[in-house]
Amino acid sequence: MSVWAVIVAAGRGERLGLDRPKAFAGLHGRPLLAESLERLEASDWVDSIVVAAPPDWEEPVILLAEELGCGKVVAVVSGGESRAASVRAGLAEVPEDAAVTLVHDAARPVLPEEVIERLMTALNEGWDGAVPGLPVPDTVKRVDGDRVVETVDRENLIGAQTPQAFVSSTLRDAAASGADATDCAALVEAHGGRIKVVPGDRRLLKVTDPVDLELAETWL
Ligand code: CTP
Ligand code: MG
Repeated sequence: MSVWAVIVAAGRGERLGLDRPKAFAGLHGRPLLAESLERLEASDWVDSIVVAAPPDWEEPVILLAEELGCGKVVAVVSGGESRAASVRAGLAEVPEDAAVTLVHDAARPVLPEEVIERLMTALNEGWDGAVPGLPVPDTVKRVDGDRVVETVDRENLIGAQTPQAFVSSTLRDAAASGADATDCAALVEAHGGRIKVVPGDRRLLKVTDPVDLELAETWL
């Protein structure tokens, strides 16, 4: 059974506000992307890796993968305008006969192997996909501009992280619709796919603002 990982790293990182894409922000003296790349390379579950790079940064991504000795990286493609478009660009390099595809945000550098194991266990149970989730710690409110409209019951809410794992053919069909979504599970859900939530990990924090970089560094 072949397991492919698509790392989406093509975002601009506007909220981080650096002079380069977020994937190349410095984390302990290395590009942010190095951390998730190395961890997926080292994972016992993953056979091959595709990276969706920021446009014009394909070459630095290839060099980084070589420097790190990431022999599982079989393709580096140019990402798209949206996350979903970058996922589609990555999936184009995943062969038809791949069994499982994991999609991971480069913006989440600290990727524990146990999370991948939980996702794979869910797929072995027969789910179409699996996502790591964590309870939402804050009280959640719906707003209209700066006015609170209502307080949402957070009992049944989770924050979804990545990596997210899918039966490859299911993700491929869902992504082909061309729809936009902030995660892959949403695409599969919209196609009637059954997605299991497994426990996420606080360290899978998505680096968004500069303070997140400092926090992620403390976990390395
Ligand atoms: N991503 C991507 N292609 C895009 C947009 C996002 O591959 N066109 C990836 C990012 O590289 C990141 C993940 O999707 O790994 C989550 O996106 P986000 O955290 O929003 O990153 P950016 O879009 O880079 O950041 P910002 O929204 O602040 O510009
Ligand atoms: Mg973004």
